[in-house]
Amino acid sequence: MKIEVNHFNAGFGNMEILKDINLKIPKHSVTALIGPSGCGKSTFLRSINRMNDLSRDFCCNGDILINSMNIYGDEIDVVDLRKNVGMVFQKANPFPMSIYDNVAYGLRIHGIHDDYEISKVVEKSLKQAALWEEVEDKLFESALNLSGGQQQRLCIARTIAVNPDIILMDEPCSALDPISTLKIEELISELKKDYTIVLVTHNMQQAKRSSDYTAFFLNGEVIESGLTRNIFQNPQEIKTQDYIMGRFG
Ligand SMILES: Nc1ncnc2c1ncn2[C@@H]1O[C@H](COP(=O)(O)OP(=O)(O)O)[C@@H](O)[C@H]1O
Ligand SMILES: [Mg+2]
Repeated sequence: MKIEVNHFNAGFGNMEILKDINLKIPKHSVTALIGPSGCGKSTFLRSINRMNDLSRDFCCNGDILINSMNIYGDEIDVVDLRKNVGMVFQKANPFPMSIYDNVAYGLRIHGIHDDYEISKVVEKSLKQAALWEEVEDKLFESALNLSGGQQQRLCIARTIAVNPDIILMDEPCSALDPISTLKIEELISELKKDYTIVLVTHNMQQAKRSSDYTAFFLNGEVIESGLTRNIFQNPQEIKTQDYIMGRFG
């Protein structure tokens, strides 16, 4: 297993958010996290790269293992962890700099300054993010001039550039039009050959189209998880059935 979550609980201050989460995420797969707004999907996603640590009152117990290493263990370097577990957000957040510099950013932060090496990685990352052909002749223009869908693919390229193992995506298409959404979905299917992807989505069709596995969250608990096909065609729990039928949420 790439990611293994055992009896993981988390909250902010004395507010309990995630309750006894147990989940296994195989490598080179897409796992969709679905569930109504406020049920803890983002909090769970941010637990996988310890982004919640940035909230002072965050607390958790239980284990999240990545490649069999407990990421909340004492020996973990959080900077390395976040390099290994990249994240793409709901709203594309390119830096106010050129397309090229956006992708090169993480490499430079991690101490790579060889221009030839950087240019190779920038090209490879933009190709992998299915953006190269649209930007190859304007690499030094501001990233902020790109369309929303292009900006989101740029953010994916920026994440890929530092060679992560896992990519977390938190509703990456929710601000995009249907065509840009389809492009990102196609990209996700390509990327799983090289990465393990965890995708939060409130779009049931997207979960069906893009994921291999699905976990249904409700009030901070995983109600049901398994093959996407089974969750959607043959859910075991009434609550899952009701949610995917659109009866609530
Ligand atoms: N940094 C935080 N401090 C306090 N409460 C938070 C914080 N982040 C999220 N929450 C609370 O945790 C709950 C789950 O939120 P979230 O994980 O964002 O749900 P979802 O992504 O499923 O919509 C919500 O009640 C939210 O208000
Ligand atoms: Mg969320």
